[in-house]
Order: sequence, then structure tokens, then C-alpha cells
Amino acid sequence: MPTWLLVIIIVLGSILGFVFLWLTLAKVVRKLWRFPAPSYTGWFLDSGFRRTFQPPEKVIARSDINPGMKVLEVGCGSGAYTTFVARAVEPKGKVYALDIQRKMLDQLQRKLEKPENQDIHNIKLIQASAYELPFADAFLDLVYMITVLQEIPDRHRALLEARRVLKPSGILAVTEFFPDPDYPLRSTLIKQATGAGFVDAKVLGNFWNYTARFIKPKESLWL
Ligand SMILES: C[S@@+](CC[C@H](N)C(=O)[O-])C[C@H]1O[C@@H](n2cnc3c(N)ncnc32)[C@H](O)[C@@H]1O
Repeated sequence: MPTWLLVIIIVLGSILGFVFLWLTLAKVVRKLWRFPAPSYTGWFLDSGFRRTFQPPEKVIARSDINPGMKVLEVGCGSGAYTTFVARAVEPKGKVYALDIQRKMLDQLQRKLEKPENQDIHNIKLIQASAYELPFADAFLDLVYMITVLQEIPDRHRALLEARRVLKPSGILAVTEFFPDPDYPLRSTLIKQATGAGFVDAKVLGNFWNYTARFIKPKESLWL
């Protein structure tokens, strides 16, 4: 075997080995200890580099976010996708950007104060838990979460709460990304969402990066 090929194999093998090891380690740690993504990761979450792998227009299309919708982003973090969604629901739609961590919302607030975002007036920041959403029953058209749900210790409770605030036929859109240590297989996510009463699962995207969309049934016994 030529030396150059051996070098390539060793380099690629080391990178893959490192990624595999990191993900395994991260999964074990996350299983033992669930905590919200630290606020210092906000700069990376809201980076153009991250968005090249998870483009906002794809997330928006796969989530079925459309003009005029009243949407809730659970776990908005530093707002990597919030401004894009705010523009996608214009002119009459609104985005409620909710996160449990004040420091994440502060980063989003600073982002909204930048000159390029001065035209956005339809985002409301809310500090609250996914377990107790500060909305009336059947208030929203769509709830979305991007790399958030698996980070929440009681996912069933969070999903029931999302279902409560959705209108009948409202949409729940959950986007996941493979390098996230909390990344779930789509079968796991479908089981969780249908277990909380959502129906009509549609998964768009690929193994690495997908959005699973669900509907709150019209004849929901919840309301
Ligand atoms: C990995 S970050 C993702 C942030 C953003 N969705 C993104 O894709 O850039 C997860 C976010 O969910 C928030 N979060 C975790 N548990 C939560 C809960 N129980 N209620 C509300 N937000 C929560 C964290 O504070 C964090 O900002």
C-alpha cells in the first residue's frame, strides 16, 4: 500500500474514532446527568458554520412554517433560527421564543438589537419551562423545537404541554442533528410523540439532520 494512502487512512480513522468516542462519552454523561445546553455554547449554536449543516430554510420548509402562523419555539437558545422563522411568518405571524435560561434569551435579545434585525418586530421572548407553557389551551398554530426535546428530562410532560397549547390540527415540528449528544433515532422520537397523542408522523431529511412533523388530532380528548 502506498504511504500516502496509509496516511489518509490513519488520519480519517483518527477523526472518525475521535467523533465516535466523543459521541459515546457525551451520550453516557447525558444519560446520567441531564442539563440544559450551557449558555456559553450560544455563540456556536448561532454560528453560520452550524447553519451550513442545518440551513434555516430547510428547517422552516420541513416544519411547514408559513406566513401568518402563530408559532412557539421551545428552547430557542441564542436564537439561531428565531429571526429566520420570524421573517417566514411575516407579515401577520408571530414567534414566541421561549427558553428556560435567561442567559440564552439575553443573547437573542442582543442579536435582535443588531442593525440587520431592526426590521423584526414579531418576536416575543419568554423565560419559562417547557413543562409550564404560559399560553391558553389551543392558542398556537405550530410548536417547534430544534435540538431541544431530548435535553428535557421529562419529555412526555413537555410533549403533553406542547399538545395542550396547540390548536386542533396544529403542528409539532421537532428537528434533530446527529452531532448533538442528545440525538435520537427517528423511531424513538415518533414513539415519544405518538405516546403523547400526536398523529400523522412525517419525517423529512436524512439520518444526520431531520425534522419530524406531527399533528394534534382534531378530535383531541385533551380539550
Ligand atoms: C441545544 S440548545 C438548542 C437551542 C436552539 N434551539 C438551537 O437549535 O440553536 C437547547 C436549548 O433548550 C433549552 N432548554 C432545555 N431544557 C428546557 C426546558 N425544560 N424548557 C425550556 N427550554 C429548555 C436550553 O436552555 C437551550 O437553550
